[in-house]
Amino acid sequence: MSLLYKDILTIAENRFTDEQCLTPRLDAELLLCHMLDRDKSFLFIHYGDYLDEDLCERYFKLVDLRASGMPLQYITGKQEFMGLNFTVNENVLIPRQDTETLVETAIKEIETIKSGGKALSGLGGISILDLCTGSGAIAVSMAVHARDKKVKVTATDVSSKALAVAKENAMKNGVGGDIKFFEGDLFSPFKTKKNGEGKKPFDMILSNPPYIASGVLPTLMREVREHEPLLALDGGKDGIDFYIRILREAPAHLKKGGLLLLEIGFDQGAVVSALAEAAGAYAPATVIQDVAGLDRVVRLERI
Ligand SMILES: C[S@@+](CC[C@H](N)C(=O)[O-])C[C@H]1O[C@@H](n2cnc3c(N)ncnc32)[C@H](O)[C@@H]1O
Repeated sequence: MSLLYKDILTIAENRFTDEQCLTPRLDAELLLCHMLDRDKSFLFIHYGDYLDEDLCERYFKLVDLRASGMPLQYITGKQEFMGLNFTVNENVLIPRQDTETLVETAIKEIETIKSGGKALSGLGGISILDLCTGSGAIAVSMAVHARDKKVKVTATDVSSKALAVAKENAMKNGVGGDIKFFEGDLFSPFKTKKNGEGKKPFDMILSNPPYIASGVLPTLMREVREHEPLLALDGGKDGIDFYIRILREAPAHLKKGGLLLLEIGFDQGAVVSALAEAAGAYAPATVIQDVAGLDRVVRLERI
C-alpha cells in the first residue's frame, strides 16, 4: 500500500517514540532522506504526495532496524565530524561531537607552535600520533584541517576492522596518502632504542581511548551498549586503565616539550591529572572544557 510522505513519517516517528529514541521525528526524516538519497527539502516539497508501495516496504524495514535500537549512523553508514563526512559501521565508535574539542584544541596548539609561541624540536613538519583511531575521526580531521601547517599524521588501533574504516575515511576525505596507519596494542607498533626511548618520537600525541568503567557499560543506552564495539568503550574496572598505560608509555614516544592531549569523561579530569602528576614526566595538567562546559580534554606537556 502506498502512503503519503507525511503519514509514513508520522508512523515512523510514533514507532521511534514508543521505543524511546531521543529524536524520533528527526530520525524518521533522516532515514527517509537516506533511503531516497535526497535532502530534507525534498521531503517538505513532497509532504502531501504518495510514496510508492515498494519504497514504503523498504522504508519500514529500515524503521524496524532503528526501532530495534540500531543507531541511525550504522543504518545510514555515515556520520559528520569536524565538517567532514565519515563512513561508520559496527566496527567503529560513532564519532561524537565531544571529540571535536580534542581536535580543535590540537589545531589551536599547532597554530601556537607555528606562530613561534612555543619551542618544539623538529618544526619542519609537526608529527602527530592519533592513538586508538577507530574511524579515523581525529587523524583524518587533523590531516585535513591542519594540512597547511604541514602536519605528519600517524594513526594506530588494535582493531584491523577499525583500521580498514579509518583508511577508507582518509581516502574519502582526500588524505589517503597523508596518514600512516599501524595495527597494534597502543605504542607497540613503534620501535624503541635499547634504553626504551622511541626511535621516532612525536611532537603531539592525541587520544580518545576507551574510558567507560566496565560496571557502567550495562547502564548505557541500548543503542550504545548493544551496537557500538565494546573494545571502543571498556576502560576497565574504574574506566582509567588506558590512561594509566598511556601516561606511563607516552613519554618514550613524545619529544621533550611535546604535547599529550587526552579526551576524558566529564568526571575524570581530577583523576587523570593526578595520574599524570604521579607519572612524573609532565608539567602540571590543564583540563579543557567542551562546548557544554564539561571537562573533556587533559592537556599535558612532556618535560
Ligand atoms: C573511544 S574509541 C575512539 C575512536 C576514535 N578515535 C574517536 O574518537 O571516535 C577507542 C578506540 O580504541 C581502540 N582500542 C581499544 N583497545 C586498544 C589498544 N589496546 N590499543 C590500541 N587501540 C585500542 C578501539 O578499537 C577503538 O577504536
